[in-house]
Amino acid sequence: MKSIQILAISGSLRRTSTNTHILKAIGEMADKSIDFQIFEGLDTFPHFNPEVAEDNESVSRFRTKIKEADGIIICTPEYAFGVPGVLKNALDWTVSTGEFNKKPVAVISASPLNTGGDKALASLLLTFTALGTVKNEKSYLSIPNIKQKISQEGKLTDHALQNQLKLILSNLLEQISQKSD
Ligand SMILES: Cc1cc2nc3c(=O)[nH]c(=O)nc-3n(C[C@H](O)[C@H](O)[C@H](O)COP(=O)(O)O)c2cc1C
Repeated sequence: MKSIQILAISGSLRRTSTNTHILKAIGEMADKSIDFQIFEGLDTFPHFNPEVAEDNESVSRFRTKIKEADGIIICTPEYAFGVPGVLKNALDWTVSTGEFNKKPVAVISASPLNTGGDKALASLLLTFTALGTVKNEKSYLSIPNIKQKISQEGKLTDHALQNQLKLILSNLLEQISQKSD
């Protein structure tokens, strides 16, 4: 039987990104039978231009990975009350080709502030509605004060957060299994 494929995408390019560490932690929580990959290379995408029709290698790789994945998990910081441009740019490249259509998603924002990146999260959820993804009221999470919940090495130290992430993952897996029923 084919293993479940989950593609994780971080909205931060920072080498020591807390958002990427969160995705790694979710990957460690996932059952070993799940193929859990973190997408790398968002910074190699050209700026989105709807008039450009020819294939770009990075964009094609991204589209293929999304198409092949059974579910997607995004974890992103908020920049200036919005979604990081690098992430929005990548999502814009999929609007006309529709890889996210009917795709189960989980959406997380994390911030050192006590607002938890809630405005970026709300904006991203709107984009995912526009893209036709599958999600419900348990598909998203805003994580405030992340610096107090993660070690310098990037390990989660907050038990409540670990449980919240397990719930996000199990809800995504449920959405995936309902889709394939
Ligand atoms: C240019 C810039 C703008 C930022 N704007 C916000 C913001 O609007 N809201 C917020 O919660 N954090 C903001 N931050 C702080 C980020 O949440 C913080 O740097 C976070 O650790 C980035 O995520 P990362 O660790 O995954 O890279 C901003 C940071 C930068 C560099």
